[in-house]
Amino acid sequence: MLTKKVEEFCNRQIEREGNSSNLYLAMASFAEAKGLAGIAAWLYAQAEEERGHMLKFIRWVNERGGNAIIPEFKKPPVKYKGINEIFAEVLKHEQFITASINEVLEVAIAEKDHATVNWIQWFVSEQVEEESSAQQILDKLQLAGPQGVYFLDRDIMNLRGK
Ligand code: FEO
Repeated sequence: MLTKKVEEFCNRQIEREGNSSNLYLAMASFAEAKGLAGIAAWLYAQAEEERGHMLKFIRWVNERGGNAIIPEFKKPPVKYKGINEIFAEVLKHEQFITASINEVLEVAIAEKDHATVNWIQWFVSEQVEEESSAQQILDKLQLAGPQGVYFLDRDIMNLRGK
């Protein structure tokens, strides 16, 4: 059984994972409209993963005797300055999500909820990967200069490594 505090933080995370999914969906749509099919495919796949993260939290809350709440999601930005800015934003957003996951973990530790402490380790590892792949793409874009977007669009799906 989740304590009220753990349930509250898990519900906050449901909202944040859902917002992440919509943010990447908006970025994917922007990239697709600009003709960047590879980058769009990467972002669409990322949006699906975030939806999967949201579902994991929803099911965990319900399985542990709580009530998972499906919130209202905020509208993500429609326009982006460019692809470098998109990936800088992805990295910043993932760092925010890492901090947020760590907060859920800290609450679970404080509440002596060992099951949640154990369960959430998957997310702790996942965040290491997500930050690292965003950083990797950003590094490649910066190394390759203005033509980097073309090469990245061609090769980006090979960077998923999944
Ligand atoms: Fe679900 Fe990328 O954090």
